[in-house]
Amino acid sequence: MSKKTQYALVGTGGRALMYIDALVDKYSDNNELVGLCDVSQVRMDWYNGQIKDRWGAEPVPTYHADDFDKMVAECKPDTVIVTTADFMHHHYIIRSMELGCNAITEKPMTIDGEKANAIFEAIERTGRDLRVTFNYRYAPHVTQVCRMLRDGVVGTPLSVDFSWVLDTRHGADYFRRWHSYKDKSGGLLVHKATHHFDLINWWIDSYPKTVYCIGDRMFYGAENAAKRGEVYNYDRYTDVDEAKDDPFYLSLSEDERLTALYLNAEKDSGYVRDQNVFRDDITIEDTMAVTARYRNGVILNYSLIAYSPWEGYRVSVTGTKGRIELFDGHGSHIIKGQSDEEIAEAQAANHRQELMVYPMFAVPYGVEPAKGEGGHAGGDARLLDDLLLPDPTDDPLKTAATHIDGAASILMGVCANESIRTGQPIDVDSVLKLPQKQSVMV
Ligand SMILES: NC(=O)c1ccc[n+]([C@@H]2O[C@H](COP(=O)([O-])OP(=O)(O)OC[C@H]3O[C@@H](n4cnc5c(N)ncnc54)[C@H](O)[C@@H]3O)[C@@H](O)[C@H]2O)c1
Repeated sequence: MSKKTQYALVGTGGRALMYIDALVDKYSDNNELVGLCDVSQVRMDWYNGQIKDRWGAEPVPTYHADDFDKMVAECKPDTVIVTTADFMHHHYIIRSMELGCNAITEKPMTIDGEKANAIFEAIERTGRDLRVTFNYRYAPHVTQVCRMLRDGVVGTPLSVDFSWVLDTRHGADYFRRWHSYKDKSGGLLVHKATHHFDLINWWIDSYPKTVYCIGDRMFYGAENAAKRGEVYNYDRYTDVDEAKDDPFYLSLSEDERLTALYLNAEKDSGYVRDQNVFRDDITIEDTMAVTARYRNGVILNYSLIAYSPWEGYRVSVTGTKGRIELFDGHGSHIIKGQSDEEIAEAQAANHRQELMVYPMFAVPYGVEPAKGEGGHAGGDARLLDDLLLPDPTDDPLKTAATHIDGAASILMGVCANESIRTGQPIDVDSVLKLPQKQSVMV
């Protein structure tokens, strides 16, 4: 039997679960987890407990973040999986490569142009490989849109209109923890919109050229609460009696996994997972509008808000021969004062997808959206197959994302941040020069 590919993972928070589960269970015939690294021993120990009790596998060696080099030297992974908070991605990607490993990183590849340049330089210097795991691309209905565009359903794309709304459950969660600080996440234009900009880049097969953005914090934060006359006199929610009627109340102690991964790990990591979304040190926007021009001429209109009463997105691509429109509702928003059945019914009503084609001068038609199972509308499962099966299937749509795709997807957000700061449109090349793309569009 050929040697298993060996992986170490750095960053044992919530997202690590998908990779650890995959490596020790479904994909363990060809792959092996050999080490874990984090700032929190409590979190690593919890994962080792899961590895033993839930998956019946052998616990793996654990290393504090300060001993990352030691982990690589002792565990000798082929590839390091980076699932830390975003502001540390570049550090572990670069160090992994310098120590002779390939790297797989969660999105966003990194959070600013300087760090993206450093990653490009490390790839050049070490000759190592970096994959960015854009699971959204792998959701079957999203892949379907790409295939339809490649098949010329709209002709040559000219315009993209993309509106993503994060709801009061999911959107608020970014304001509770490290994501709420721009120097840790790049803000939602990088942390979250990297997914969306990546889809657009991939669908229309081009990279952005010029970016303009207006953004503000208009709902979360102390100042906005004060403007509305709302008073929230607590720093966090867990076990705070006066917070219990707050619609944003989140109790870590009432959830087994949140207790194990975060509450019990506060002492050794200093990471508080349930901060008040109306506190005063938040530095990211919650309302953003981007206008951008692509290298192939396409004009993008994009918006993102993080406090919507429903979650999902609408996107349309209009071209020389027609228009395609996708609605994707996620149905997870907070509803108060109704029975569990009524809430489930209301959420389910919004949990649907619609795909329409409007050919130029012809009758519109609906297309059944392709369905997937599991996390991120089936995207996680297909991504893992692609990453961890020994013989990856053909990839005519180039779904596997490179470091260039990773950089292209954050550059829109990095430039949008700079545009908010300066009030000016930003030339993407001034931040990082991406190689020319060989277009595959018809
Ligand atoms: N593709 C997706 O759909 C998806 C979904 C969720 C998260 N993510 C990404 O996964 C990554 C992790 O997100 P998460 O939700 O697990 O966050 P999390 O806060 O639960 O976990 C982050 C982990 O990073 C660790 N960490 C922080 N600083 C570190 C350092 N200096 N060295 C080593 N470890 C450090 C923390 O201790 C924590 O265990 C993020 O980059 C996020 O964008 C992607």
